[in-house]
Amino acid sequence: MNITFIGTGYVGLVSGVMMSYFGHNVTCLDTNSTKIAQLKSSTLPIYEPELEKYLTPAIKFIDHYRDIPSDTEAIFITVGTPSLPSGQADLSYVFAAADNLIGHLGTSNDSLIVVKSTVPPGTCNKLQSYLAAKNSKLKIATNPEFLREGMAVKDFLNPDRVIVGINNREDLKILEALYKPLIKKNIPFVVSDLITAETIKYASNSFLAAKIAFINEMADLCEIIGADIEKLAYGIGLDHRIGKDFLKAGPGFGGSCFPKDILALATLTKDCKVDGLILNAVITANERRPGNMINKISTALGGSLANKKIAVLGLAFKAGTDDVRSSPAIEIIKLLQERQANIVAYDPIATTDLTGVMIADSPIEACNGADALVIVTEWQEFERLDFEHIHKIMKNRVIIDLRNMLDSRVLAAMGFEYYGVGK
Ligand code: UDX
Ligand code: UDX
Repeated sequence: MNITFIGTGYVGLVSGVMMSYFGHNVTCLDTNSTKIAQLKSSTLPIYEPELEKYLTPAIKFIDHYRDIPSDTEAIFITVGTPSLPSGQADLSYVFAAADNLIGHLGTSNDSLIVVKSTVPPGTCNKLQSYLAAKNSKLKIATNPEFLREGMAVKDFLNPDRVIVGINNREDLKILEALYKPLIKKNIPFVVSDLITAETIKYASNSFLAAKIAFINEMADLCEIIGADIEKLAYGIGLDHRIGKDFLKAGPGFGGSCFPKDILALATLTKDCKVDGLILNAVITANERRPGNMINKISTALGGSLANKKIAVLGLAFKAGTDDVRSSPAIEIIKLLQERQANIVAYDPIATTDLTGVMIADSPIEACNGADALVIVTEWQEFERLDFEHIHKIMKNRVIIDLRNMLDSRVLAAMGFEYYGVGK
């Protein structure tokens, strides 16, 4: 198939490259010419392990709609759909893409637009009416993504399922042709109407977010009653109805999807006069989490953070990515600064231009003279630090491990004061 992707971000680029690997002729468009220039010189503008080896010169990278091949059969929209201040998803980029497609392909073009960007339920129907009102023959389907950053290639090649939403059966043939390699591997291929497919995406992310908010709440309880959150998570996760994944307590969920998707779904339930109690409780609980972590750090340091030097290990919202969008680490650093703490941060991949934050070139440099070491992102290298040496160079030997990555017994034996989450 001849396919064009509009938007080469974390989702569009991975999807485009992997669709090329499936054997399709892929064109990737992005209005950010810098990104396209990088991609033309085979440089990835994002950090995504494994993706590099699938990058091929067969993919056309363009930064203008006029260069979209006229024989394109399917056009994936993977532009950003960030949160507006109201909590609703910003769909301006999606509709801008539609306008540009009509403008450059003409109203007689009857290619299939496949909306992959996460859009609120009802958007695709609105888009269909929008196109019809402009006398465009472009058709609409939706195919939400379930790619985890840092695992996106693996998730693309081995998804639990492919979800597609259509509003007429003949579009199914194109979607089945696009995903033929996965259908041949018996990956469940779920066909529904547009609005159900859109809602599956939001419900999936919101449920996963709720699971994380739940285990974080259990962690807070464990700390008070003296239970162990990791044993608790293991014990409940063995129930196949619960499942072991997404039960790791931590500093709260972040990233460019969970926070914005659950907020958009909660906003929709409010607009539909549905209570949305659970969604709003998850949002509130997660919003409070960075503050809870500050209290934990403050208590560990005797109640005051003013003028304390704190080494923060990790900036990305999770390990395996350079993405700092809605990262708990960034929130925690801002709150620590509000309490007049001095921050030195280190991340192997991600960075930040937050004012007043010293960026260290290594974890050791960050720990030099520090009153506390706080682990916020679960980068593997933090498990293998030279803690004997760190013990010598820290001013205070306090370790707050917000990902329960380290062995508290070993560190206590070295003379550290160790604090985990839910332990
Ligand atoms: C985005 C949405 O955030 C997510 O909800 C959806 O599931 C998929 O698309 P992501 O790939 O992380 O996820 O977005 P981002 O990294 O911001 O990439 C969007 C790309 O679209 C950017 O490269 C941007 O330059 C490009 N873009 C944006 C266009 O090409 N045209 C536009 O009009 C706007
Ligand atoms: C998520 C969904 O998993 C993916 O299916 C969807 O397409 C996009 O959004 P992503 O945002 O990349 O993927 O990250 P994910 O691995 O899901 O983690 C989301 C957040 O939850 C991170 O902040 C992570 O640290 C946190 N998390 C995850 C936990 O705190 N505990 C866990 O057990 C799992």
